[in-house]
Amino acid sequence: MSSKLSLVLCGCGSRSRTYSKIAMSLNDQFEIIAGADPVASRVDAIRKTSNNPDFKSYSSAEELLDQPKMADLMIIATQDHYHFEPAKKALELGYHLLLEKPAAQSINEIKELAELAKKYDRKIVLCFVLRYTDFYAKVKEIVDSGKLGNIVSIRAHEGVDAYHQAHSFVRGHWAKSTDSTPMIIAKCSHDTDIIAWLMDSPCKSVSSIGGISHFSEKHAPEGATDRCTDGCPHAETCLYSALRYTTDRERWLNMVYPDPTKKRETQEVIEWLKISPWGRCVYKCDNDVVDHQQVLMEFENGASATLSMTAFDCGRTLEIYGTKASLRGGDAIKEQFDTDLLIRDHYNGEIEKITLPDLTESEYAGHGGGDYGLITALSDIINGNNTSSASLIENSISGHLIGFTAEQSRIQDGIKIPL
Ligand SMILES: NC(=O)c1ccc[n+]([C@@H]2O[C@H](COP(=O)([O-])OP(=O)(O)OC[C@H]3O[C@@H](n4cnc5c(N)ncnc54)[C@H](O)[C@@H]3O)[C@@H](O)[C@H]2O)c1
Repeated sequence: MSSKLSLVLCGCGSRSRTYSKIAMSLNDQFEIIAGADPVASRVDAIRKTSNNPDFKSYSSAEELLDQPKMADLMIIATQDHYHFEPAKKALELGYHLLLEKPAAQSINEIKELAELAKKYDRKIVLCFVLRYTDFYAKVKEIVDSGKLGNIVSIRAHEGVDAYHQAHSFVRGHWAKSTDSTPMIIAKCSHDTDIIAWLMDSPCKSVSSIGGISHFSEKHAPEGATDRCTDGCPHAETCLYSALRYTTDRERWLNMVYPDPTKKRETQEVIEWLKISPWGRCVYKCDNDVVDHQQVLMEFENGASATLSMTAFDCGRTLEIYGTKASLRGGDAIKEQFDTDLLIRDHYNGEIEKITLPDLTESEYAGHGGGDYGLITALSDIINGNNTSSASLIENSISGHLIGFTAEQSRIQDGIKIPL
């Protein structure tokens, strides 16, 4: 392998744009050889970022995978339903993989990919970017240091944010579990991965409940039209109005608008909203993924954990209760105490505050610095260094297993209390 890690990109959407920009900002560490996507303008955006005059463009994963191996590593950032097939083929061709999460649509497929990686002696690094943030790296360091004693329980909470929920999980790519993956996998595989990573003990039982509480037709305000652009009487006031894509919610539009390179006029966006899934009334979509879910977990070391996911909060919060001390951290703690972590010692009641560098102004603040952290760590992981805490597929099976089992339990619908 040359000193630069060479990359090809399979799927040139939002995630690939982020990773390739970061890779090219790290002088001399990466080169981008090729990109494949049916949307030519997206491949073109990667070509521009690559700054490589010999960059090769392909119109699909299939076309790229028909070519002999042309780089060290393939980034697979297609949608959830199309990770397994290209990943298998890329491993056979001899690529290492940076594979978007979730690794595949079932635990059996994920185990098969892990086996294939072993067979071909390749590495599959999953994009569990939270592991590479200052925040979770610090939490892991504290847990591993023994400062908290033995973990007795973990309480994790993820607030997706109402507009984000509507954009991605009601109107968007992850609205239907059959087309992609269930919410607890699509969104919360990050959280189950972190819980499994911190707990460091196999999970032995999972149960879960959850459903759609709000994003259904019965909650549509009176007179709401099928699309926000159909003259809906609520278009100016509704939290979820698609017209907000042209004003204060443009950030979300950038992730899904067909041509990322083109300057857009407002009227052009409105015309697009008239025909695109993102122009639909959030109460009249074909979504089937949950807007709230609770997961209970029990581990072989005797500890337990809970994860709550809701559309109606914003940010992640984590609490770890150990035999020597408890730790609290995340967005709710930051809002309330203006610090990242609080550790309370059970012996003397003293509270230690830990404040981490503020990344909000940084260009690479995405996912709390995790996108940047992952790309920065990538070459080292591929070269076999610092692998014990890395998001290699073999280290990430238990988190996936919790998610898939939670969904199974949720569908079984708990034990009913007789009315
Ligand atoms: N790690 C994270 O934190 C994180 C965050 C968001 C999304 N994701 C995951 O990343 C993946 C990609 O998400 P995204 O937001 O970039 O989606 P996206 O829709 O922006 O990108 C996917 C791209 O794949 C392309 N594509 C479709 N069929 C193809 C084919 N046959 N060959 C090649 N390309 C094809 C699409 O045209 C699109 O450009 C998803 O699995 C998603 O769940 C991960």
